[in-house]
Amino acid sequence: MTRIPFNRAARIGKEFEYIQQAIAEMHLSGDGPFTQKCHAELEKLIGAPKALLTTSCTHALEMSALLLDIQPGDEVILPDFTFVSTVNAFVLRGARPIFADVRADTLNLDESQLERHITSRTKAIIVVHYAGVGCEMDAILEIANRHNIPIVEDNAHGLFGSYKGKPLGSFGALATQSFHETKNITCGEGGALIINDSSLIERAEIIREKGTNRSRFFRGQVDKYTWVDIGSSYLPSEILAAYLFAQLECWQEIQEKRTTIWNHYQQELQPWAEERSVHLPSVPVYCNQPSHMFYMLMPSLEERQALIAHLKSQDIYAVFHYLPLHLSDMGLKFGGKAGDCPVTEAISDRLVRLPLFYEMSNDDQGRVIDAIKTFNNWRQGE
Ligand SMILES: Cc1ncc(COP(=O)(O)O)c(C=O)c1O
Repeated sequence: MTRIPFNRAARIGKEFEYIQQAIAEMHLSGDGPFTQKCHAELEKLIGAPKALLTTSCTHALEMSALLLDIQPGDEVILPDFTFVSTVNAFVLRGARPIFADVRADTLNLDESQLERHITSRTKAIIVVHYAGVGCEMDAILEIANRHNIPIVEDNAHGLFGSYKGKPLGSFGALATQSFHETKNITCGEGGALIINDSSLIERAEIIREKGTNRSRFFRGQVDKYTWVDIGSSYLPSEILAAYLFAQLECWQEIQEKRTTIWNHYQQELQPWAEERSVHLPSVPVYCNQPSHMFYMLMPSLEERQALIAHLKSQDIYAVFHYLPLHLSDMGLKFGGKAGDCPVTEAISDRLVRLPLFYEMSNDDQGRVIDAIKTFNNWRQGE
């Protein structure tokens, strides 16, 4: 019996060729031809005026905090159920995180909880399209616009997803993408900042280039480049961009395969789940989800842990994530208390993510599904 990992990065075939090309052309630092091609592809996919590759989604979030001029004492509202980078990027600038609870169905920021968190100190609202299922953007935009607060979309999961026909990543003033190995499209470690508010483009280029106007210099717009603002080094090498472009070029192929796997999990597991009060992902009809993640909400922590152990005994690796941020060591320092975000507290113990990757074979997926179905028998003591 072979091991079925939780994830294996997609390999589409042209990665080596493009990396070799980048080496042959001797343009190894950032912003070469492959980076430009990735930018163009992302701008087309998301319908955004500007995309800039970054070294990670974490760094794109850090750039967002810099671009929005987050200062010590500012407040940012974000979902409690998310990866640490969503919050860390803003806390690094001295912000105070305000954790909003999530909806029990999509596990996205609960728009009905949003307004009560807004104060005169609120400087940004960060939304996360969990598993690439769009947040309730109509309601969130209405509230944010009324209070004149910019939105950042942490779209780490959501490339190729859409809400009411509009691509995820196109709603916020800024949006961030991840190309980490676990994502649908990858270069190992990588990300992108999507800039929908055109007034932020020039400063974004400066922040990404160590606080210099080097991008303008390369375009011939200034005759020397110099230090003009704060910034850091957020641009990836051409080697990574070459790898990424090989994948972006073939995104339909990757998406078709992942969608087939996702749909198969849903069809096969739905009846089993319904009988056992297990919840499968909930996708509103007006959302297209990008088959990034297939998760299940088990009835209890004990059953979640037992299922993971049961799968592991068959060499199948399922995982869980995120612990409620407000109850983490850092969250407690910001005043988090048990009971602050009851939905996050209830679901984070029960969530399990199933293996889902481009190269997953039908047989392997069949093994995962069979193992889950036998878990039920095992639970009943068979
Ligand atoms: C919601 C979310 N935001 C941000 C990140 C960070 O992405 P990266 O590893 O590209 O920095 C992740 C990582 O998985 C994530 O799940």
